[in-house]
Amino acid sequence: MKSEILSFLRKTDGYISGQELCEHFGVTRAAVWKVIDGLKKEGYGIEAVTGRGYRLTSLPDIFSAEELESRMCTEWAGRNLVFYASTGSTNIQAKLLAEEGAPTGTLVVADQQTQGRGRRGRTWTSPAGRNLYFTLLLKPDFVPDKASMLTLVMAHAVQSAVTEVCGMQAQIKWPNDIVLNGKKVTGILTEMSVQGEYIQHVVIGVGVNVKEQEFVPELEGKATSLEQESGRQISRAALLEKIMENFEADYALFLKKQNLSLLMEAYNAALVNCGREVRVLDPAGEYTGIAQGINEKGELCVKTADGKLKKVYAGEVSVRGVYGYV
Ligand code: BTN
Repeated sequence: MKSEILSFLRKTDGYISGQELCEHFGVTRAAVWKVIDGLKKEGYGIEAVTGRGYRLTSLPDIFSAEELESRMCTEWAGRNLVFYASTGSTNIQAKLLAEEGAPTGTLVVADQQTQGRGRRGRTWTSPAGRNLYFTLLLKPDFVPDKASMLTLVMAHAVQSAVTEVCGMQAQIKWPNDIVLNGKKVTGILTEMSVQGEYIQHVVIGVGVNVKEQEFVPELEGKATSLEQESGRQISRAALLEKIMENFEADYALFLKKQNLSLLMEAYNAALVNCGREVRVLDPAGEYTGIAQGINEKGELCVKTADGKLKKVYAGEVSVRGVYGYV
């Protein structure tokens, strides 16, 4: 009831009467008042005027299950929400929930992770109160080969959300890092469980650096946060709300063709590598070339000096700018 009342208050321009809330939830005025009082204690500014009802007067930057639930306007993505003040890793929790039968679209969010995981076995530093850590669970019915494209779908959803909330152009470093001013603000770790020819579940874990923070020396100059670059105060809840909305729309486009053909143009427009010289760290041999953009499978097309077009598949290969990270 708490998140629904919050949602009503958020949607109502002006006052919502106590009577209306009582009738909607089938509870007493005292029960409604108790919820309102609880919200006020959490920091929401709520004005109560006799004869008129309740009105939201301020929206503090609160990050809680109720705040997130009251914001979600999607049909399925993030509708089943599991929130942890602290957990090991949202990817691990999402996998456990998947095995227990959680539905597709389940969103696992944490304020803090104690064992945050990055790609290639790295750790993802995840302090409380500063960043966004979440994992979206999907149970798709396409073949496992296609799952790697989901990372790019999420990258595009996050890139557009970051651009909107920060008011500045975010870009994608292929395949799935989001960068602001050439520095990384987001990482995505997608993991899949397969049985035979079928996907049991895919978990797409996203970490976004939001508040100002110091980075370990090896990330100095390579990593940054949304607030550091944009100079704006960013609400983690508003950002996540936007990401879920974008993902739902982008995923529908992906499902139509079961490839990235309908998203390719928008993805390539945001691709920081496009038209730039890149170094492809292929275990079979490094080479350089000019990145042309992705194809409908999400492979990066790179033109080498001899005019050949190579298709780089994300799995084993990293791409760097010839002079640095991008
Ligand atoms: C990368 O190395 O770039 C990927 C980082 C992914 C981090 C996110 S935070 C939420 C989710 N839970 C994890 O343990 N990892 C991902």
